[in-house]
Amino acid sequence: MTIETIAITPIAGQKPGTSGLRKKTAVFMQPGYLEAYVQSVIDGVGGVAGRDIVVGGDGRFFNDTAIGIMLRMLAANGAAKAIVGRGGLLSTPAASNLIRIRKAYGGFVLSASHNPGGADGDFGIKFNVSNGGPAPEGVTDAMFARTKTIDSYKILSGPAPDLGHIGVTKLGTMTLEIIDPVTDYVAMMRNLVDFDRIRALFASGFRIHFDAMHAVTGPYAHAILEGELGAAKGSVVNGIPLPDFGGHHPDPNPVYAADLFKLMFSADAPDMGAASDGDGDRNIVLGKGISVAPSDSLALLAANIHLAKGYTAGLKGVARSMPTSRAADRVAAKASVEAYETPTGWKFFGNLLDAGRVTICGEESAGTGSDHVREKDGLWAVLIWLDILAARKQSIGEIVADHWKTYGRDYYTRHDYEGLPSDIADQMFTDLRGALATLPGRSFAGLKIEKADDFSYHDPVDGSISAKQGIRIFFQSGERAVFRLSGTGTEGATLRVYLEAFEPDPAKHALDPQTVLAPVIAAADAIAGIKSRTGRTAPDVVT
Ligand code: G1P
Ligand code: ZN
Repeated sequence: MTIETIAITPIAGQKPGTSGLRKKTAVFMQPGYLEAYVQSVIDGVGGVAGRDIVVGGDGRFFNDTAIGIMLRMLAANGAAKAIVGRGGLLSTPAASNLIRIRKAYGGFVLSASHNPGGADGDFGIKFNVSNGGPAPEGVTDAMFARTKTIDSYKILSGPAPDLGHIGVTKLGTMTLEIIDPVTDYVAMMRNLVDFDRIRALFASGFRIHFDAMHAVTGPYAHAILEGELGAAKGSVVNGIPLPDFGGHHPDPNPVYAADLFKLMFSADAPDMGAASDGDGDRNIVLGKGISVAPSDSLALLAANIHLAKGYTAGLKGVARSMPTSRAADRVAAKASVEAYETPTGWKFFGNLLDAGRVTICGEESAGTGSDHVREKDGLWAVLIWLDILAARKQSIGEIVADHWKTYGRDYYTRHDYEGLPSDIADQMFTDLRGALATLPGRSFAGLKIEKADDFSYHDPVDGSISAKQGIRIFFQSGERAVFRLSGTGTEGATLRVYLEAFEPDPAKHALDPQTVLAPVIAAADAIAGIKSRTGRTAPDVVT
């Protein structure tokens, strides 16, 4: 085996977003593209010579081929060791954990999260740094700069290494350690939740239905829910990771996890329903006849986390992304701890977690997590819910109703308009930004605007400022509408409209969010001109 230096042309313009670089699989498969990007990352993070690197992905199409190439590149670039999940599999939170416990320099996580996979689907590569979290902006800027100038990459000649067997071998001078992707994750969860108490809950007849959506959480859920905790065999469905996720979007929302939602609203619904996404960082939790809104789930976990085994010290603080509902803030206020509002994307939570300012954090997009890793963690959220259910001995519906009674209910919905022409979407935001100063005092669809701004985040830990993070409209009667463009889509532009209204009166807590929020929805449309500009009559996805 020899180290080859292969000439390439730069792939300028490939700026990694909040979740690394995501592109159509076919783009990554172009000759030299993956290599140019990976070499740019290696160079952008200061090289890997003498360093340990974790590598794994969600098993989507091209995952194994890409990892084979990347390992040969890591070896050629002088890495000391690569730690790889068997079969190239690692969920995003498991990769984050491994980077931390192995004190690795960082890790490559291959995934396009909840986006569909396959030859016609999406692919992605993210680099996480030594705290286990996504590379911060300074580092992604350096990677991006390198993509513009890169003219060669280094690779070890010879075949791709075998990823199928656990053990330690050599690839050139690099140590290649293939590990079971699940073992360390299970050990971590055993410290965070009370396995005995949850086992007793299942033994008492409690039933769960976990849909792994043919994505990476299948092996983890089988091992923990059915293996360790004794949930009935068959509790985990679609548990085998498939390269094309069985032809579906591995996104646990009412559209793509329709079977789960249908089951949970049917007569034979089990006690709990849950699902995760492609790479295992998202979660959705449902009870009999109730779907817990992710923003509410964050607030509920914050209010009850002290009941879970690993969190008896209580809550240090809570962080939520800006478009996430303000339900978590109410819990923080009552607990007299700090509540932080960050831009969308998990990387903004990293500084707060590292500084010990927050215990848990979350996003409206079905992501919750804690200081145990530096990524959101889907199965963790499901297990914490189970631990809380076991401790409180109440149903999910009862716990949610009780929460709303104590704190009030933040009615919430998100409307997504996908695949919009980028010029139309960009013009909408140019116009919105241009009109911001004139909006206060004006009424739209009967709602008067009190304040309007473009969210800017001042990181309290490192002092950095992230501007233009989304348009926020606050109405005088307390409602809020937020407009953002997605940073993770791969086709056209996706407009996200986040709508919410607070209702303190328990007598009004069982209403349908779309009905309660109808005036805010109408006002948002009037303010941004969504229907008239896009010609769309309804959103593509409502969550
Ligand atoms: C979406 C979610 C965001 C999440 C990100 C990565 O980003 O909205 O909360 O952090 O995926 O999972 P968006 O497409 O909105 O930029
Ligand atoms: Zn994900």
